[in-house]
Amino acid sequence: MLPREENELLTRIGAHTAMGQTMRRYWIPALLARELEERDGPPVRVRLMGEDLVAFRDSAGRIGLVDEYCPHRRASLWFGRNEDGGLSCVYHGWKFAVDGRCIEQINEPVPFCHKVHLTAYPTVELGGVIWAYMGPPEHTPPLPKFAWTQAPASHRHVSKVIQECNWLQALEGGLDTSHAPIMHRLLRDDAGRGGIKPSSAYVRAKAPALVVDLTDYGYQYAGIRALGDDEQHIRTYHYILPFHQIRASRSETGGRVDAGHIWVPIDDENTMVYNWQYSLADAPLSDEDRLERGIGNGPLHVDPTTFRSKANRSNNYLIDRAVQKTLSFTGIDGVNVQDRAIQETMGAIVDRSREHLGPADKAIIQLRRLLREAVTVAGNGGVPRGVKPSYYELRAAEMVVPRAGDWRSLIGEGLKPEAILETV
Ligand code: FES
Ligand SMILES: [Fe+2]
Repeated sequence: MLPREENELLTRIGAHTAMGQTMRRYWIPALLARELEERDGPPVRVRLMGEDLVAFRDSAGRIGLVDEYCPHRRASLWFGRNEDGGLSCVYHGWKFAVDGRCIEQINEPVPFCHKVHLTAYPTVELGGVIWAYMGPPEHTPPLPKFAWTQAPASHRHVSKVIQECNWLQALEGGLDTSHAPIMHRLLRDDAGRGGIKPSSAYVRAKAPALVVDLTDYGYQYAGIRALGDDEQHIRTYHYILPFHQIRASRSETGGRVDAGHIWVPIDDENTMVYNWQYSLADAPLSDEDRLERGIGNGPLHVDPTTFRSKANRSNNYLIDRAVQKTLSFTGIDGVNVQDRAIQETMGAIVDRSREHLGPADKAIIQLRRLLREAVTVAGNGGVPRGVKPSYYELRAAEMVVPRAGDWRSLIGEGLKPEAILETV
């Protein structure tokens, strides 16, 4: 349960809110690199953190991420001409460089460019994603070089999809291990759709005990599920502030991958979910892997130009009640479609004053605690967790190990003992 004021504090991300200012202390995914490949190509609308922006790649290949509205009389620069080293407003021809400098005012006999500036955010291209920094320049953090961003493009895949609810409830869903083998389970191994098979250890095992290790980037945690008398199933996750998850997974064709999501606020009531994975095998990801058929984030489930989910609230997520009786727990196709559906049913911003949390929600309770702490630290001018680059090499793990013995020592690099500050 969260009191109303705290719910407001953690969920609202406008530029003048405490959480909005805290989140602006980190690099934030703004768009996919493949949306902005062409020099002097069409500008792209980007709504990010409640701000309307436009991205463009200039003649020299540099990326601009600027206020959508021209500082002259507020026309939309999305309609602008991108040519000869800048973006020109088509209303009166004022032209801007990627850093927001005004470089032409062709409607003025005596230009006063030096008095005009367009808001522009620095960007970096890493891992097939264009990231923005929207905070104070003196607090610019180290580059977000997550391990997945360093994988070769042949081994890496990133997609994105709009989720119509607040970023925090989507993030909480991603750190909530107890729902996964329930909501995402199939009813038959041969169901022929995305989901977790009933014969898998994840589904067969008992309800999880959660162990959360706090770290300087957020936390790592393990869901530990008893499996018969002798074994246990362990699945580890990392949470890196403010909105990153890393988890162990399998590609569509069964290859071992690390995967994760980034839940980026579009505004208070909409989230852009980035979905990444990279192959841990020598083999690159295949075309089938990139379709994301089972997980439900690829072109079969998401419009590749609008990034809207084809199954959405207006069509009840295409729930099939016959499938729900016979093949899958939800009757909704696509593992992450199920997540989006059920998290959107909670309302645009869920009323956390009316919830009832239990021990299975421990990771969510700690997540909220860390976010509150980050707001306090950032508000006092300090460096919140997740800014320092201690998260660069993180990996996750999922395996069945004997119940006897120390599970931490058996799961290899999925958890880092040296990173633990406190276990809760
Ligand atoms: S409104 Fe943009 S140049 Fe006048
Ligand atoms: Fe899920």
